[in-house]
Amino acid sequence: MFELDLDINDFLDTYWQKKPIVIKQGFIDFEDPIMPDEIAGLAMEDELESRLVYQEAGQWHAQSGPFSSFERLENDGATLLVQAVDHWHQDAQQLVRPFRFLPNWRIDDLMVSYSTPQGGVGPHIDNYDVFIIQGTGKRHWRVGAKSELQEFAAHGALKHCEEFAAIIDVELEAGDILYIPSGHPHEGYAVETSVNYSVGFRAPDQNDLLSSFTDYCIDSNPDAPRYTDREMLLREKPGQIEEQELNEIHRVMLANCTSPESLIPWFGLMISEAKHDLDIAEPEEPHSAQEVIDMFEQGAQFIRLGGLRAVYFEQQPQSLFINGEQFNCEGFTQLGHHLCDQDEVGSELLELLSEDKDALNLFTRLVNCGYWYAD
Ligand code: SIN
Ligand code: CO
Repeated sequence: MFELDLDINDFLDTYWQKKPIVIKQGFIDFEDPIMPDEIAGLAMEDELESRLVYQEAGQWHAQSGPFSSFERLENDGATLLVQAVDHWHQDAQQLVRPFRFLPNWRIDDLMVSYSTPQGGVGPHIDNYDVFIIQGTGKRHWRVGAKSELQEFAAHGALKHCEEFAAIIDVELEAGDILYIPSGHPHEGYAVETSVNYSVGFRAPDQNDLLSSFTDYCIDSNPDAPRYTDREMLLREKPGQIEEQELNEIHRVMLANCTSPESLIPWFGLMISEAKHDLDIAEPEEPHSAQEVIDMFEQGAQFIRLGGLRAVYFEQQPQSLFINGEQFNCEGFTQLGHHLCDQDEVGSELLELLSEDKDALNLFTRLVNCGYWYAD
């Protein structure tokens, strides 16, 4: 269990999306949840996204995984990065939990990097907020102010930015946390062999939203509203599109999203889908509802699958959105919301599930999908 030593209200007021901060010993007595050989093991898998970045004779190199060997990591100046480790490694997943003071739907994944001395990915700008936690070793980080900097490809898919002046210049030690808001240039180089954990956040941009929303509308709306003339008068200027005609086009375009509520269920379906693969393992034989009750009675804790997104809307509390699917929790919203709000559930649900067949059926279904599993 990782306990974050941070004044959360002060952090949210002063720093979140505003300025970077070093949280010295944010995790006291920090112990790495994952070992370097396990990081390498994950980088060998097809399902995980991994990268190896290194410099040779002053030239940057970046290779994508999966990898079958790691000779380059025997030399200085190399970094191996593995994305969405929380989806695959239960102990590493624990490192995301302390950051759930921010809403689930904003959290992206846990990236883990292993660097040999001087290893780093070079100066760059991320378009997401990130908490970088120092594990084993030490790493020197520089963070600059948000500014318009030239960006360029240092190698293939390795985007760098031009040099920047540091507003933070620090050597992180195990348990220290560096928070970097989106848009701040930064670079980190290992002082000694170093492991870093990055809890990254996602904020969809307008293009992502529009393209997903229009896909949803096309799929779910075969009888889409069509433009019709309000009234047609004799035209003196047949080449002109009149104001009221453009107004009508605007009305047709927005007919499916006239209010924030009309973005439900689309947004729930979209945002509950994980960007990276999940390690879904359905039980070999589906459990019956009674078996699930028996497991609770025997003291089982059910853990939500690492990286699984489960959310609901204040405006439509009877719907849950889990991994891109909508589930109905009408009549047992308390249970439904508890599942979304907690990373694991246990005996506190026994009474409710024993008394409510629909709630039990839903939970059994989620267990049989492999979304919650008994520890
Ligand atoms: C790293 O851990 O090497 C990269 C983290 C980052 O700069 O985003
Ligand atoms: Co970065």
